[in-house]
Amino acid sequence: MGKNRKLVLFISTSLDGYIAAKDESLDWLFKVEGEGDNGYSEFYETVDTILFGKRTYDWVMKQGIEELPYKNKECYVFTRSPLDDKEDVKFVHEDAVNFTKNLINQEGRNIWVVGGGELLHSFLKDKLVDEFIIKVAPILLGTGIPLFREGEDQVHLSLKSVRNFNQFVELHYEVKK
Ligand SMILES: NC(=O)c1ccc[n+]([C@@H]2O[C@H](COP(=O)([O-])OP(=O)(O)OC[C@H]3O[C@@H](n4cnc5c(N)ncnc54)[C@H](OP(=O)(O)O)[C@@H]3O)[C@@H](O)[C@H]2O)c1
Repeated sequence: MGKNRKLVLFISTSLDGYIAAKDESLDWLFKVEGEGDNGYSEFYETVDTILFGKRTYDWVMKQGIEELPYKNKECYVFTRSPLDDKEDVKFVHEDAVNFTKNLINQEGRNIWVVGGGELLHSFLKDKLVDEFIIKVAPILLGTGIPLFREGEDQVHLSLKSVRNFNQFVELHYEVKK
């Protein structure tokens, strides 16, 4: 069966490639002056499934919310710990790459990889990611949690568009396969 949906990374990063400070703070990101919702709702409409690494999920849940703010989307969290599913989220304990390949081969809209860097790394190693939509914040953090980890393979991209939302630059790339 042919592939009918795309796996898309939609994420914000510092100019020097960090998605969070060492202490996981995103204060630096929320201080950036954007424009409207910085293209979020436009992107959100294109997906029906959302993937998280466990640390990213934990970060979201630490923001004083009871449940994930992604109504009517299928949400999956990858973890090697045995956790029970909740109403709004399923914890995936099987191999992340195989599980995601199966998702990609099902009918549906695109799949959003929220992050973080560790989960992304598993997908990049197996060349699963189809598109990158990266919002670059005008800051050099110097240290933090990296978006990209060291890897063996080069990933060649084709630039689809560049937009700016006030101080953010959005780079939209397609992966050459
Ligand atoms: N700037 C942004 O837009 C943005 C976006 C997303 C995240 N973030 C930030 O990034 C930070 C987290 O990123 P991170 O790279 O440290 O961690 P992460 O990728 O979010 O989560 C890592 C955890 O996910 C699970 N995991 C990852 N790959 C797996 C695989 N192949 N199979 C099974 N489980 C897997 C493991 O959980 P277990 O340890 O439970 O097994 C692992 O410890 C947070 O601070 C978050 O706020 C920022």
